[in-house]
Formats: sequence, structure tokens, C-alpha cells
Amino acid sequence: MLTIDLTDRVAVVTGSSRGIGHASARLLLEAGASVVLNARAPSEQAESAFADLERAHPGRTASVYGSVADPATSAAVGKVIQSQYKRLDVLVNNAGILRDRLIGMIPDAEIDEVLATNVSGLLRMTQIAARLMTRRKSGSIINLTSIIGRRGNPGNFVYGASKAAVIGATYSAAKELGPLGIRVNAVAPGLIDTAMTADLSNEKRQDFQARIAMGRQGTPEDVASTVLFLASDLSAYITGQVIGIDGGLIV
Ligand SMILES: NC(=O)c1ccc[n+]([C@@H]2O[C@H](COP(=O)([O-])OP(=O)(O)OC[C@H]3O[C@@H](n4cnc5c(N)ncnc54)[C@H](OP(=O)(O)O)[C@@H]3O)[C@@H](O)[C@H]2O)c1
Repeated sequence: MLTIDLTDRVAVVTGSSRGIGHASARLLLEAGASVVLNARAPSEQAESAFADLERAHPGRTASVYGSVADPATSAAVGKVIQSQYKRLDVLVNNAGILRDRLIGMIPDAEIDEVLATNVSGLLRMTQIAARLMTRRKSGSIINLTSIIGRRGNPGNFVYGASKAAVIGATYSAAKELGPLGIRVNAVAPGLIDTAMTADLSNEKRQDFQARIAMGRQGTPEDVASTVLFLASDLSAYITGQVIGIDGGLIV
């Protein structure tokens, strides 16, 4: 029987207190990896989510609280990896925020907030990971982009820019890090049922849903299973790709 076995591998999943990041961390743990978890702050929800994962997989989780927008957070993740694990095999750059607003109504601070989280945070985490992975000449970096970064969406001017930047970063990192044995790919979810999409108006949701070939929203696990595949050796010859997980929303 073929199974994905990540025993002894070490992963970091940013933004793993809920949604796609939490499902990805859970599947990586179920496959045997140790996982460094991250959320902005030790909220009740984050602490309880992380405690559940630790209870199910004793001794295989660590947590680092702090926004990925803050350079101190990527540095802290690097320190935990160095002191506790001495290796890094998988980075899932999942933390992200969505702000829905028409172009003329976007406050200046919101442009900085979205780009600092979705782009600068991912770039810094990738720098730390690349340094650690280069030592073993292997590793897999998985970036969360979005169909909105590929096709756009009204009201998502800054978010769309940030997710297109993730694709550009993925391509360049794949070319630079491929010779060092490090693979870099992105996944581009469509409409996934998480807190991020909970506030979508009924009208927008129905419009999206009508265009999904498979006729349903995705689940966090739909995305996490592709993350697990990209983290594993089953995808050993895949790098520099953007894999759509959208039930046929874009064909
Ligand atoms: N849901 C979708 O339909 C969809 C579609 C395409 C792409 N995506 C992408 O998939 C990723 C995950 O989305 P999701 O739907 O799972 O979102 P979500 O339910 O809102 O979860 C976001 C996660 O990121 C954490 N987070 C937010 N800002 C952070 C920061 N500055 N630093 C560290 N952690 C932070 C949140 O934790 P705390 O609040 O506890 O800090 C939470 O764990 C995002 O990059 C998103 O853009 C989602």
C-alpha cells in the first residue's frame, strides 16, 4: 500500500490556527512530520487549536506567535528550527489576509497591511527557509496564492496584487533554489469554506458557485491534501508550478 510518510521531517505552517493552514498542519502531522505552528497572537481560538494538534500528536508541535508581517516572527521561527529540530523540510507560506473594498475607498494603511502580510511576510519566511534547507540540499516550499492573483476580482485590488506577487516570487525562487534541491510551488485555491470567505454576500457566493464546474465550494482539506502532496516525495520532480484547487472555476 502506498502511503505518504513524513516521519522525521520538519515543517513550518504560517497562519495555522484555522482554515487552510490548520488543515495543512493537521495532515502534515498525520503523515508523521513535526510542525511549527504560527498565528498572530495567543488568542483563545489559536491556543485551543494548537493544543488539539499537540494532544493528537504529542511532542511533534511547537508554536511561534507573531505576525508574519513583523521580521521578528520569521527570525523567531528560524531560532525554533535551529534550537529544537536542526532541519527544515517543508515551509507552507499560508498566512494571509483579504480586504474587500473598491479601489477608490482603500485607506493607505490597508495597502501596506495587506502587502506586508501576504507578500513581505512570505518573502522573509522564504529567505529563512532557503538558508536552512540549503544545508541539506532538499526542501519544499508551498505558497498560497489565489485564483484572484491569476484572474482578478472586483473589490480585491490590493489582495489581487499581493497574490500575483506570490506567483512571481514562486517562479523566481523555483529557478534559483532548484539547483540547491529545493522545490517551490504555489497552490491557487478558488472559493474555500473558511473564515476568510464567511462574510461573502449571498449574491457573490451564488455567482461564484454558479461558475464552479464541480458545483460546490472547496473545503480546507481539499487544499491541504495538495499541500501534503507537494510536501512529499511524490512531487519530487515538480517545481515552479501554480496548481489550481478550484473545482473547475478556472478551466
Ligand atoms: N478561503 C479561500 O477561499 C481562499 C482562496 C484563495 C486563497 N486563499 C489563501 O489561503 C490562505 C489561508 O486562507 P484561509 O481561508 O484559511 O484564511 P483564514 O481562515 O482567515 O485563516 C488565516 C490564518 O492566517 C493567520 N494569520 C492572519 N494574518 C496573519 C499574520 N499577519 N501573521 C500570522 N498569521 C496570520 C490566522 O490566524 P490568527 O488570526 O489567529 O492570527 C489564520 O490562522 C491565505 O493566504 C488566503 O489568501 C484562501
